[in-house]
Amino acid sequence: MSFLSQRSLNIKPSATLAVAAAALMRKKTGKEVFDLSIGEPDFPMPPYINHGIENALKANKTKYTAVDGILELKEEICLKFKKDNNLAYNPENIIVSTGGKQVLFNAFLSTLNPGDEVIIPAPFWVSYPEMVTLAQGNPIICPMEDHFKLTPEALEKAITPATKWLILNAPSNPTGIVYSAHELEQFAAILVKNPHVWIMSDDIYEHLTYDDIWFKSILNICPELASRTLIINGFSKAFAMTGLRLGYGAGPVELIKSMTKIQSQSTSNASSIVQYAGLTALKGDMSFLTEWRREYQSRRDLCLSIFSKSPKLFVQKPQGAFYIFPRLVGVTDDIQFAVGLLEETGVVVVPGSPFGAPGYFRLSFATSAEILKEACSRIVQYLENRFV
Ligand SMILES: Cc1ncc(COP(=O)(O)O)c(C=O)c1O
Repeated sequence: MSFLSQRSLNIKPSATLAVAAAALMRKKTGKEVFDLSIGEPDFPMPPYINHGIENALKANKTKYTAVDGILELKEEICLKFKKDNNLAYNPENIIVSTGGKQVLFNAFLSTLNPGDEVIIPAPFWVSYPEMVTLAQGNPIICPMEDHFKLTPEALEKAITPATKWLILNAPSNPTGIVYSAHELEQFAAILVKNPHVWIMSDDIYEHLTYDDIWFKSILNICPELASRTLIINGFSKAFAMTGLRLGYGAGPVELIKSMTKIQSQSTSNASSIVQYAGLTALKGDMSFLTEWRREYQSRRDLCLSIFSKSPKLFVQKPQGAFYIFPRLVGVTDDIQFAVGLLEETGVVVVPGSPFGAPGYFRLSFATSAEILKEACSRIVQYLENRFV
């Protein structure tokens, strides 16, 4: 019998981190690597945020803070919700955690009893099902539909008396889909009829949308769902602060209190210095995002134009985030494809299977146009050579 817990044995390590580790190994041996696996902005953190860190250090802000975050930051997060999303929250509706990941963890640990179901539309971010399993819930994977979007029919079918949460993540990792107001209205109509279902809206990519498409919260469409919605957000993607680990959740007070209790018995507060960095980030001029969006969009279009030349790839244009999720035409084993691609060409992508989408792969276009051009051309060439 293993010394390790059944809980630990039941979950898979992060597929994206595993691929990144394989790429690193290859790099160490001096071989060429074109890494399209990374889920983080390649832009540096906007320099004005440095001042927040420097000032916090000068002021010795190195002690424990309130578990759920410093009040100034929670107030600033409320202002952000008002300004960006037209949503009204008070500081007691907010929890600040060590990354969006910890917000999700706190929420699942706070609410799931063994056997409770969490609806996860496929393709999904790899961590959702594993986190649900860790919290002893049952991930219910909603089958993938055309265009990667959850449909009202599939949602209705997935709901059972045991459903606790529906996860909505748009712009999505890994597909980049964004729901229209009409689509959100259709979900809301079903959710209103099912008052036992809570909504976990993971909005971490909200600022990264393209082609004049803008993020909309389901709470803008249906405010009455606020009493059972938890919004997940953070600083990783919008401010390129991935390594600093800062995220936040907004939801009903009772839930936030329970999440705070869980956090108080695990990590306590997010790093004090990093909270001040977050405060500075939110107070600053976020016009840099306009430039980032423009740059990401042009890189996305570069990849799409290279892929359009290959009959072995079926690609749907992502409307947000920084991922493309192509379908391999005539190639069934996406894991073998990704392994072979790395070995033969040095290009790193993540296979689709861990995202609930066998036969697909994910690439991140949060890297330079130069690397993207070379890497995408190699993918097309590899498919041409290897799969006739
Ligand atoms: C969809 C989604 N949600 C949440 C997160 C968590 O981000 P972090 O813990 O860095 O805030 C990620 C990170 O990749 C993500 O892709």
